[in-house]
Amino acid sequence: MSTEPSQRIAELVRSHRILVCAGSGGVGKTTTAASLALWGAMQGRHAIVLTIDPARRLADSLGIGPIGNTPVRVAPETFARAGLLVKGTLNAMMLDQKGSWDELVERHAPTPEARDRILANRFYKQLSQSFAGSQEYMAVEQLGELDSSGRYDLIVVDTPPTQHALDFLEAPDRLLDFLDRKIVRWFVRPSMSAGWSAFQAMNKTVGFILRKIEEVTGVGTFAEVSDFFESMSSLFDGFEARVARVTELLRDPATAFLLVAGPDEQVLDQVEYLADQMSARRMPLRGVVMNRIHPLFQGAGADLDADEPGEVVARIAGPAARAFGREVPPELLDRLARNFCAWQERARGDALRIEGFMQGLPEGVPLVQVPNLPRDIHDLEGLTSLHPFLLGRVA
Ligand SMILES: Nc1ncnc2c1ncn2[C@@H]1O[C@H](COP(=O)(O)OP(=O)(O)O)[C@@H](O)[C@H]1O
Ligand SMILES: [Mg+2]
Repeated sequence: MSTEPSQRIAELVRSHRILVCAGSGGVGKTTTAASLALWGAMQGRHAIVLTIDPARRLADSLGIGPIGNTPVRVAPETFARAGLLVKGTLNAMMLDQKGSWDELVERHAPTPEARDRILANRFYKQLSQSFAGSQEYMAVEQLGELDSSGRYDLIVVDTPPTQHALDFLEAPDRLLDFLDRKIVRWFVRPSMSAGWSAFQAMNKTVGFILRKIEEVTGVGTFAEVSDFFESMSSLFDGFEARVARVTELLRDPATAFLLVAGPDEQVLDQVEYLADQMSARRMPLRGVVMNRIHPLFQGAGADLDADEPGEVVARIAGPAARAFGREVPPELLDRLARNFCAWQERARGDALRIEGFMQGLPEGVPLVQVPNLPRDIHDLEGLTSLHPFLLGRVA
């Protein structure tokens, strides 16, 4: 096996059908997912990136709009314009949470009347927008759909911007808990399915659950909630089976989980816990992308301390200016030197934190480092500029 971490990530992508990019929000998950899918497409795969909250300009350059929920294929001309040789296809899909619930209802409602009743229900509208974890659940559900369509041989899943990387893995179970059949049954014709006295006995519980639901959704009228559960009951029948299926899909040997993280995150020292939890769920961590790091300057003078800008001028900035044959004003040299010192300090901090992080990482999990690039990444050129860092110098 090749030893370079980037080559091992490349191997990981080559040998898996589903890649899930997990991690807390803002670290570059969406960017990484899109970049990996593009690479897969360049290698000849039929790739799709299921993205959650792409930055507007990235969405535009992939050609996916804010409303959609349908896969869009990136046009060959787009690749040609960017000068890219893409042997396979790249597809992108934006998960719009509300739309996915609606789609779910449309797909599984037994009759058009039931469908309309659910879609118009106030409680449903609230639930589909605000239920914690529903976005994660929808991503999983959507992954199941893309998988069974049989149209893609590489599915890269970008996960919702959560606090914690585990949220995504827990979503199906949490939704199942919430939709626990017993609870649902209380709402579905409670006075008929249980006798009146049984209903009274349950009243406290039902009241409690209603209050909970009211807290979450702001809708608390019993009639509406009850009506919702009644019309949804046929959908719930299928939930368990679908959750079981996608959970198996997540545990499939052809599925790999990648953690995307940043060097200054507070959670870096929790990787041991995270990796344990993932293993316990039989969804082991297979690779780490450490994004937006500040690489340490390695040349002569790299050992200089931040409180020696004079030395930096003497040993680095001054000689560099002379090498370019320039007369550089001393104030400018001094500013450059201080800037350099500040950067080195950051870079040393990053390196230290990453080192500590790697100690908590299970053995054999490759970690690649991607520098903080001087520009935003919002188009195909930007996505390919990450390839050497993520996947090594591969053809
Ligand atoms: N290595 C990088 N260098 C420079 N900018 C980056 C890098 N990775 C991501 N970005 C930028 O950071 C922002 C957030 O990235 P994004 O992928 O949307 O994060 P997330 O999905 O984790 O919230 C985007 O504007 C993206 O272009
Ligand atoms: Mg994102």
